[in-house]
Amino acid sequence: MYKGILLAGGAGTRLYPLTSVLSKQLLPVYDKPMIYYPLSTLMLFGIKDILIISTAKDIPNIQRLLGDGSQMGINLAYKVQDAPNGIAEALILGREFVGRDDVCLILGDNIFYMGDQIGGFTSTVSDNPGAVICTYHVPDPQRFGVAQIEEDGLVTSLEEKPKLPKSNLAVTGLYFYKNDAIDKAQRLNPSARGELEITDLNLEYLKEGRLKAFRMVRGTAWLDAGTPDSLIDAALFVQMAEKRQGLKISCIEEIALNRGFISVLQFEKLVSSYKGQGNYKLYLERVLYERKRSA
Ligand code: G1P
Repeated sequence: MYKGILLAGGAGTRLYPLTSVLSKQLLPVYDKPMIYYPLSTLMLFGIKDILIISTAKDIPNIQRLLGDGSQMGINLAYKVQDAPNGIAEALILGREFVGRDDVCLILGDNIFYMGDQIGGFTSTVSDNPGAVICTYHVPDPQRFGVAQIEEDGLVTSLEEKPKLPKSNLAVTGLYFYKNDAIDKAQRLNPSARGELEITDLNLEYLKEGRLKAFRMVRGTAWLDAGTPDSLIDAALFVQMAEKRQGLKISCIEEIALNRGFISVLQFEKLVSSYKGQGNYKLYLERVLYERKRSA
């Protein structure tokens, strides 16, 4: 069983002054707070126990937004990361929460739009030899971790922000680990930028021949929303996809209903507790109407 860790830390300096009061992960991406997107990805993988890691300043706001998750049939716990010590530190901070389970780590500013490919991903993960990373074809791989992968998905090389990338496959901020990742993370040394690097952890699995990659196909989307431009690009992408289909992306209530995390009755109660008659609530009411009609 996988537990989830959602890392919503960092100072968000690339988005200052947007982030001077509000955490990056609470900024809007079109019609919902950024954190809904990674949270919904975990939920789509069927993960219900989730630890949200953020700063002491930001956790109260995130908690006000999402609570303990029970309204969506999930369990949310919270943990403070005192300083931006790197992505891999999330696994160390999550040790107690994860216990003996395996762990899926997702970055709070990563937006995935995978459609039906999520099924293929789930089966890759069910065959996890140690770690499964998720890759996406990009035009500017030097900005990311870069992987080379074989037909069967085994990773043959992995480099963090290489000047001369060996492929166009960027390593996205979504990682599935066996439980031994926590001990491995504990043994890592900080990099030149003073962080516990997730790529260093993944390289440990590569050395052991236990690192697999899932490759997102054409037509899917991976967006990060860490700069003013990428934030607006992400918002425009979501707006376009939602308007065209009349379906929302990363609507956590709808996912909770569709995944059976909550009943129709619980969904109905939740929707009626929402104030006003805004676009989001109207959408949820339509989801309810259609569900009842098809029952
Ligand atoms: C981190 C990882 C990098 C990965 C990226 C995805 O980079 O180190 O391998 O490609 O997240 O968002 P950072 O944003 O910490 O520079």
